[in-house]
Amino acid sequence: MDNRVRFFDTTLRDGEQAPGYSMNIEEKIRMAHQLEALGVDIIEAGFAIASPGDFESVKSIAAAVEKPVVASLCRALVKDIDAAYEAVKGAKHPRIHTFLATSDLHLEYKLKMTREQALQRAIDAVKYARNKCDNVEFSLEDASRTDKDYMCQVVEAVITAGATTVNLPDTVGYATPKDIYDMVTNVMNRVPNIDQAVVSMHCHNDLGMAVANTLAGIAAGARQAECCICGIGERAGNAALEEIVMNLRTRHDQYGMDYNIVTEEIAKTAQLLSQITGVKIFPSKSIVGKNAFAHESGIHQHGVMANVKTYEIMTPESVGVKKQALVLGKHSGQHAFSQRLVELGYTLEKALEDKLFAEFKVLADRKKTIEDRDLVALVEAAQGREITERDWKLKNYVITSGNEMYSTACVTLVRGGEEVTESAFGTGPVFASIRAVEKIVRHPFSLMDFQIQAVTERRDALGEVSVKVQDESGTYRGRGVSTDIIEGSILSTLDAVNKMLDGKARLGTGAASLAQHSFEDDMLSGHTDR
Ligand code: KIV
Ligand code: ZN
Repeated sequence: MDNRVRFFDTTLRDGEQAPGYSMNIEEKIRMAHQLEALGVDIIEAGFAIASPGDFESVKSIAAAVEKPVVASLCRALVKDIDAAYEAVKGAKHPRIHTFLATSDLHLEYKLKMTREQALQRAIDAVKYARNKCDNVEFSLEDASRTDKDYMCQVVEAVITAGATTVNLPDTVGYATPKDIYDMVTNVMNRVPNIDQAVVSMHCHNDLGMAVANTLAGIAAGARQAECCICGIGERAGNAALEEIVMNLRTRHDQYGMDYNIVTEEIAKTAQLLSQITGVKIFPSKSIVGKNAFAHESGIHQHGVMANVKTYEIMTPESVGVKKQALVLGKHSGQHAFSQRLVELGYTLEKALEDKLFAEFKVLADRKKTIEDRDLVALVEAAQGREITERDWKLKNYVITSGNEMYSTACVTLVRGGEEVTESAFGTGPVFASIRAVEKIVRHPFSLMDFQIQAVTERRDALGEVSVKVQDESGTYRGRGVSTDIIEGSILSTLDAVNKMLDGKARLGTGAASLAQHSFEDDMLSGHTDR
């Protein structure tokens, strides 16, 4: 057995299933490119049969990346396996990942099958998949609650049928590290053909043990780790990729494992996920939280200054957290600006760089120093979709607001040669300005989510606004950054509404059934928008 752990990233499948993390195809492709740069061995791109959108995403990712294996999940059913293969067959390295539950609980209540029937179904599915593709993974769903003898029987049979990877998930996050260690040891010792397949771990985090359990599996002989960036996933999530790999790196003395992950790409990958989904990273999140390398207390600061190893077990650079090299301001030229972008990992087309430099200059007039986080916010807000002539753009707005009055907003938008002004009122200035936008574009929508976050700490910080809007066609996400939160709110709403109006960038979730509503009559009448 070799000593290399294969990283199987399921951010775009198990991760994307979690509420709040759905992504559209373009966003998934951006994420897949970054996962490739991170060095993951396998990208699970989706569940091809789940919806036409999922199928298209898997197919597009299969075509977009070169190095990683691209897998699609499928149940142990002919039509699922067919769809999975159709979606991944264009990949340089395709994989079919088929699964069936094996615990008595799932067999009796969910599948209504006997152990013998499930065994046969698993064998048939793997054989069928193997006839299409020579890279086949079989997962014994709920493995950690499966009878140990039966597990050995299924594992041996699916390997004989052609499975090249066998996954033993802790589907419900119930196991302890000892349970997992014993489970994998049992399979390694008792399955005679186990050397013909890679054993994989897929641990959920319901009791907060997903990473510990994955590492226990590796210690017992597993050589594939299924995980998600920042540990997103069903319910409490999956094992976090960055935590597993930094354990392997930092405690190499203990695990002695190699891997292909470029750990210096970790921070960028986590930030990209957060920027795409609008879900902020918890400040104390290990490895990628903004406090993960901050030393606040005097004793700690003193120790770190004397010798960084006193309180730091890994360097920020090892996970790609870069030191602020130079602070930009209003006198900085385009050369310094573009050099800093390159250092931050962005190689942009000239036209986009010019546009961002103009925005940077406006920002530098309002804000004394521009930090890396400001630059990243500007770049990320501009990524993902090209502005067209058909888009509505903000020209200006005026707000009247106070603590004992309704707020009013008068907003002017332009589109091509057209200029339209509308006013609206609401219980607050954000509500009023979004309502004015809705009146101008004459397309009713609901505001499903609104988040605002300061990019940096000081009073002149940029505010980053992330919104989700919905109409009958689906849900659309928008982002906007400004030192003025009303401007940020309008910009993020326009970003989402322009996507909605050209109907291309809908999030992966199916269109929700939306009760028709009209902006004229729900004004101030218990509408939940802010
Ligand atoms: O949690 C689980 O068991 C899964 C399988 C489908 C691999 O996600
Ligand atoms: Zn799972």
